Amino acid sequence: MKLLHLDTSALGANSVTRELSAAIVARWQAAVPGLTVEYRDLDTHPLPHLTGAVLSGTDAAAKAEGDAIMDQFLASDVIVIGAPMYNFGIPSTLKAWIDRVAVAGKTFHYTENGPEGLATGKKLIVASGRGGIYGDSSPADFQEAYLRHTLGFLGVTDVEFVRAEGVAYSPQHRTDAMAGAHASISEPVAEAA
Ligand SMILES: Cc1cc2nc3c(=O)[nH]c(=O)nc-3n(C[C@H](O)[C@H](O)[C@H](O)COP(=O)(O)O)c2cc1C
Repeated sequence: MKLLHLDTSALGANSVTRELSAAIVARWQAAVPGLTVEYRDLDTHPLPHLTGAVLSGTDAAAKAEGDAIMDQFLASDVIVIGAPMYNFGIPSTLKAWIDRVAVAGKTFHYTENGPEGLATGKKLIVASGRGGIYGDSSPADFQEAYLRHTLGFLGVTDVEFVRAEGVAYSPQHRTDAMAGAHASISEPVAEAA
């Protein structure tokens, strides 16, 4: 079984999503013998923007890197993403990764009945961090809602959010939000993947 772990926070050791994504991965490692974990820090090792040169293959190195990212995504059974809310959306480093894995013919295609996701059978767990408070269905949420929609479009419909929000309100809010988020991490179910 393969787990892909991505972090995207620009706040380094002070990051709530890094702490939570590490805790989620540690749970899976403890629960699933032989689990293979691949890790990429998209903050320290970002992918370039999906420019015309990358898309067309003119930038051969960036194209090859994108192909490797796609292969890694397709091979994974479980994906854990540390995803802070930045400007109501996701960090641009995470968007660059999504631009590599959302590829027509590879992870989705259109049929007579509309679009169909091809990256099925995966579980996605998002460690979500937000300075403000948005809950489950705020119209200002272009972070969790975007990830649910976009990965769902690709066929990844088994999605769980481990959320710490309101962390910017006060140190106490942050402490309470982190305690709640850690407590909400669910027990890994290997068969779900
Ligand atoms: C560049 C930047 C943009 C942010 N934008 C928002 C925002 O739009 N809404 C919000 O509630 N919090 C926002 N925040 C606060 C973060 O969501 C919050 O600090 C969260 O903990 C980030 O996760 P992290 O600690 O893992 O980096 C922003 C923080 C940064 C650094």
